[in-house]
Amino acid sequence: MPKTLNIIIYPDKTLRVKCIEIKKVDDKIRRLISDMELTMKEKDGVGLAGPQVGQTIRVIIINTKDGPLAMVNPKITKKSWRKESGEEGCLSIPDFYGSVKRHKKINVIYTDKHNKKIKLAAEGLFARVIQHEIDHLNGVLFIDYLPKKNLKDLPEE
Ligand code: NI
Repeated sequence: MPKTLNIIIYPDKTLRVKCIEIKKVDDKIRRLISDMELTMKEKDGVGLAGPQVGQTIRVIIINTKDGPLAMVNPKITKKSWRKESGEEGCLSIPDFYGSVKRHKKINVIYTDKHNKKIKLAAEGLFARVIQHEIDHLNGVLFIDYLPKKNLKDLPEE
């Protein structure tokens, strides 16, 4: 049975780690994915990345209308020149929100739960969440895009 994982909260240093590639999706990774899916659902998140549950490996979960989508080693292969602003939050930075500009459309390549390589095109909120979660794998947080003066209420790193 999947279990709920603890969410790492900012300014924990784990959130700043550059995560490593997953060589092969095995049962251990699949178990982590199930646990992350449950955790995202319980916390009512739109996405979740490995480092947010203390696993500094390249795996993210996206909440889609068809259910949770797990992406291993996701990589953006193309991004639109056009960007758009949207409000973002993060389970690791509770009760804090800010407007971030993201590419409107992206193409992504990733490995699925069964080690299959998948390509997909995303736009709008879906594209935004993928960009936010891939940032997590590189130790980047959405607050990094906000003006310094907006970060006064956050603890110091
Ligand atoms: Ni986040």
